[in-house]
Amino acid sequence: MSSITEVAEAAPPPAVKAHEATATPATVLQGQPQQAKLPQTDPCTIVIFGASGDLARRKLIPALYNLACEGCTGNRFHVLGIGRTHLSDEDFRAQMRDAAATAKDTRDFNEESWARFAPRLTYMIGDPNDDGLLHELAAHLDHMREESDISPNTLFYLSTPPSVAPNIIQGLGAASLTEEKEGYRRIIIEKPFGSDLNSARQLNEVVARVFDEHQVYRIDHYLGKETVQNILVFRFGNSLFEPVWNRNYIDYVEITAAETLGIGGRAGYYEEAGALRDMVANHLLQLLCLTAMEPPVAFDADSVREEKVQVLRAIRPMSAEELRTRTVHGQYAAGKVGSEDAVAYKQEKGVRPGSATETYVALEFRIENWRWAGVPFYVRTGKRLARSVTEVAVHFKRTPQALFARTPDAQIEPNVIVLRIQPDEGISLGIDAKLPGTEMQTGTVRMDFSYSKGFGVRSPAAYETLLLDAMQGDATLFTRRDEVEAEWKLITPIEEAWARSESAPPLATYASGSSGPAEADQMLARNGHNWRPLG
Ligand code: BG6
Repeated sequence: MSSITEVAEAAPPPAVKAHEATATPATVLQGQPQQAKLPQTDPCTIVIFGASGDLARRKLIPALYNLACEGCTGNRFHVLGIGRTHLSDEDFRAQMRDAAATAKDTRDFNEESWARFAPRLTYMIGDPNDDGLLHELAAHLDHMREESDISPNTLFYLSTPPSVAPNIIQGLGAASLTEEKEGYRRIIIEKPFGSDLNSARQLNEVVARVFDEHQVYRIDHYLGKETVQNILVFRFGNSLFEPVWNRNYIDYVEITAAETLGIGGRAGYYEEAGALRDMVANHLLQLLCLTAMEPPVAFDADSVREEKVQVLRAIRPMSAEELRTRTVHGQYAAGKVGSEDAVAYKQEKGVRPGSATETYVALEFRIENWRWAGVPFYVRTGKRLARSVTEVAVHFKRTPQALFARTPDAQIEPNVIVLRIQPDEGISLGIDAKLPGTEMQTGTVRMDFSYSKGFGVRSPAAYETLLLDAMQGDATLFTRRDEVEAEWKLITPIEEAWARSESAPPLATYASGSSGPAEADQMLARNGHNWRPLG
């Protein structure tokens, strides 16, 4: 890029309706970002299965604490954690306090607010494999409601491995905990929803025997991110982009979710999941759907989900030849991420010797419909890469004629729109402009919108948005039954082909801290395309 133009155009904070806004862009840009105003919901009791686990500590409790501090949850709000670890209420509160005090997503942690929040947390020891657990829970909830004024609305949160989910769900049904006689009964089911098409179908069957679909919230936290939701606003809230959002103008689309982190302490889970199930089967396919879907007839749960499912249906499963040429799986070797030494995946604690689990995936999908025929959608994700970045890059076609080709150094770069999901949330548009000077030379400049500079408000964390939506009964940002099955329908054949090594590309390796395996670059080079650099 020969020059950078910063055009951060500010809009009023979302709490104010645009036509009522009095703030000028200049005033919005001043001062510290404020928190966007969140609505108040009917109070409820949240029952978290897997409450002594990592997700509860890092994401759920910090999100609930934030919501309580914002005044969203009301007075009769309660959180009951269930876990196998032996803890008293006090132990649980102390652990959650330490977690909330240090979690990335906690806003303004202070002892006074925590002291008000902590009594709302209680704990029950329980093993999800124990058939008596859910009857015990029913009695416990009755007892809690007799003793204190807590809400009859109940939201069950399954933050447990997929293998124990059916047991818990059947148990909730058997203990009559799903009946909406007094207040609502809803269930949030964490990803991964099953581990392949069959197990997802079976889990959906179990869920459908016990819950009505309107009670079910299959969570994919990417949908709670503001920048992910903004893909729809960008596409359907502006008349500028939609007319060119198709095969006539777009050359290819790149979707990246790169992480510098390794697997941390999650070898047990990750060895079973791998990057394909962990990231592609949900987060990346969701980004693809939002980028490619047709405009929904309304912004409501069914209309939006219907259009996403249509995209998934339009992706034909890959042939044996395509599985070889349009898929890459890799595993990180030792290397340096930034200035830190990183061990190979096989040397990580808890990883099986000789493990063939992939920590990197690159795929080329084709959406065979009127809008997208012939446009490759490349997706890639990996751990221990050079940089952490999640983005959707839409590459437009070249101009039909190189009009300025006779001038020295002239090179017209095709336009690229980058929707930056994280970090540095925003949108940039690469356009060509005349370089200053007497000769007709061009260079690429960047028009850039940055969320933090543009709005001057802090966005709620993804789990806050989604928990609040589930409490309000809005399932728009959750995945529907047929949607998860359509996701697995695409992913399971890839997983199976990789397991049958004779029909699959071999597992590639890449150095920790690099941009991923060379095979992923070759996959795009065959079509004359390139990944945006990570290094
Ligand atoms: C989770 C995956 O769903 O998403 C993790 O299990 C991954 O492996 C994480 O690190 C990435 O989420 P985020 O919000 O940090 O991009």
